Amino acid sequence: MSYYVYIHIPFCLSKCSYCSFVSFAGMGDCGRKYFDVLYTEIETFFKNNPHQKLKTLYIGGGTPSVLPVEYYKNCLELFEFEDEYEFTFEINPKTVDDVYLKSLKELRVNRLSIGIQSFDDNLLKIINRQHSSADAISCFESARRCGFENISIDLIYGLPAQTIEILNKSLEAAILLNPEHISIYGLKIEEGCEFFKKRPKDLPSDDECADMYLEIVDKLGQNGFEQYEISNFAKPQKFSRHNMNYWKNREYIGFGLASHGYFLQNRYSHEVSLDNYIKNPFPVNKKFVDFKERQEDEVILNLRTKDGVDLDNFKEQYQVDFLKEYKSVLDKYAEFFKISSNKVSLTAEGFLVSNFILSEFLGN
Ligand SMILES: C[S@@+](CC[C@H](N)C(=O)[O-])C[C@H]1O[C@@H](n2cnc3c(N)ncnc32)[C@H](O)[C@@H]1O
Ligand code: SF4
Repeated sequence: MSYYVYIHIPFCLSKCSYCSFVSFAGMGDCGRKYFDVLYTEIETFFKNNPHQKLKTLYIGGGTPSVLPVEYYKNCLELFEFEDEYEFTFEINPKTVDDVYLKSLKELRVNRLSIGIQSFDDNLLKIINRQHSSADAISCFESARRCGFENISIDLIYGLPAQTIEILNKSLEAAILLNPEHISIYGLKIEEGCEFFKKRPKDLPSDDECADMYLEIVDKLGQNGFEQYEISNFAKPQKFSRHNMNYWKNREYIGFGLASHGYFLQNRYSHEVSLDNYIKNPFPVNKKFVDFKERQEDEVILNLRTKDGVDLDNFKEQYQVDFLKEYKSVLDKYAEFFKISSNKVSLTAEGFLVSNFILSEFLGN
């Protein structure tokens, strides 16, 4: 067995207007203390569990690159990697330079995820990003110069005042950079962000967002990016191994404030306030996942991916025939499913309405 590990770093330069992730702006001073506590959490985990090597490590946030690379060293000494490991580190264009990026290489980071969101300067201001499109391009180029051969970029569609033309320009800029991977999320406005308090008036309509999504799938597909999950596109073999592990419904370990994990058949989370996490840096809200729940999770997570549900594998694991068990949902949404001899997956149009469809598999 080897481990898949996520570490959450809850600090950012400033808060983007759409973001409800647990992250604190302007609190980088707490970084040192945070890492002391994180070290205790990881060290305790390895005292209580076998010291297996890591297959993947994903350091996300927040913006992990707001903190000095030095802070990461102690915690990383607690890990050993498999030969073929994937170690992703999230960065933000305004927070890194060549020195920082080279130090990340020395830490053994071999995949970067750059939060760009849009290549349109006006939109970047509207969503309160601290960088311009030119900063994003220069960050990407520095990363290449420093030897990173596996780079992902994050974009968002459905932003206020965004039109399909503006989106297209961002897609073209992204394609021109030639990253190995692009994640592109539909804007979600949830409690806790600026846009939730004051909803922008010029959000694109649902129909416009649907057109944007289909345009993204089409354009990225034509340019060599395979859509392997609802929001994720990759060059051949460059899908995120860490995230694929989630969608295969396999176990992973989460360390750090607000992180989630799934380990020894239990799902768990962590305290979300900094004070509470510092007092108690261990999993809370542990919940055993029973057989039926595991089966439901498997369906919902697998159907997010282009590979969908492998029918033989499903039967072997859960002793049920997927096509019979879920016949009513499959019939109801027949136009959105692709069914082959051994596989059931959603079409691009199905991905678009996946929230509705997937919820119908619950409690089936
Ligand atoms: C946790 S963030 C980390 C990236 C990094 N902090 C940055 O923004 O530069 C991961 C990604 O989630 C996406 N995201 C965050 N909030 C979102 C929202 N409300 N709607 C859609 N996508 C969102 C953004 O694309 C973001 O880059
Ligand atoms: S999108 Fe990224 S940089 Fe912006 S507030 Fe959220 S975590 Fe921080």
